[in-house]
Amino acid sequence: NELYLNGAFVPPEAAHISVMDRGFLFGDGVYEVIPSYGGHFLGLEPHLDRLDASLAAMRLDAPLAREDWRTVLRRLIGEPPAADQYVYLQVTRGTAPERDHLCPEGVRPTVLAFAKPIKPRAPAIAEQGVACITHPDIRWLRGDIKSISLAAAVLMRREAADADALETIMHRDGWVTEGAVSNVFVVAGGALMTPPKSRLLLSGITREMALTLAHEHGLEFVERPVALDTLRAADEIWLSSSTREVLPVTRLDGELVGDGRPGPLWRRMDALYQDYKA
Ligand code: PDD
Repeated sequence: NELYLNGAFVPPEAAHISVMDRGFLFGDGVYEVIPSYGGHFLGLEPHLDRLDASLAAMRLDAPLAREDWRTVLRRLIGEPPAADQYVYLQVTRGTAPERDHLCPEGVRPTVLAFAKPIKPRAPAIAEQGVACITHPDIRWLRGDIKSISLAAAVLMRREAADADALETIMHRDGWVTEGAVSNVFVVAGGALMTPPKSRLLLSGITREMALTLAHEHGLEFVERPVALDTLRAADEIWLSSSTREVLPVTRLDGELVGDGRPGPLWRRMDALYQDYKA
């Protein structure tokens, strides 16, 4: 279980970075989480495209060429067939001599990547769904950047856990943005909808896959703003993320969603997704 750090594959105990690293001091960096099943990455290119977009938004240069990323990531998950794993990768602005928000020229980025097993979904989830809470979106206004500054997400997951829930669904000015670590779909009035891409939320790769699957299989959907009231009155709510796939939400702030069981449209989407990832 070697990890990748700045050009070398090393055992975790041998991987060291400076306390002056800007990722450590400022949360000055970006990341990706890329799933792989049976030795094959799901959505590798879209994930690397999004990494490029996050790097550009943070005015960081790409530290590796696309082909080098692919080589590193493949080596981390080992030869197929391998267990289901995700690769976490992060790029920080690097280690500078002083703690200065303004980074001097010539600092080399710190590049880290490692693979970890993806926990299989508990069978109870397809039977019972998961619980969520809601909370105002207290994050900054650039949710489209996959930044390692995750203070709000950490707090929101804590709030959720304290309420025996899995995830916090956030809203801004009465409109649903996304989960702390996931995107949100809603089925209401017979329509499948998800908030449109904007700077306020991450353009999830799983979200995009679910929309593509819906499109290819004749499930109608709309990308449109979703009011908090619509969320509360929804027949179905789903979460999507690379490590959690598409999950049915059956309790929201302690109330049942629909009849309190995973809905028919979720079952359809989950079947499509399971088929697609295999
Ligand atoms: N989180 N929105 C936020 C804020 C996220 O952090 C994530 C993913 C998503 C879903 O994006 P994707 O489908 O591309 O995984 C949406 C990852 C998994 C994490 O931070 O661990």
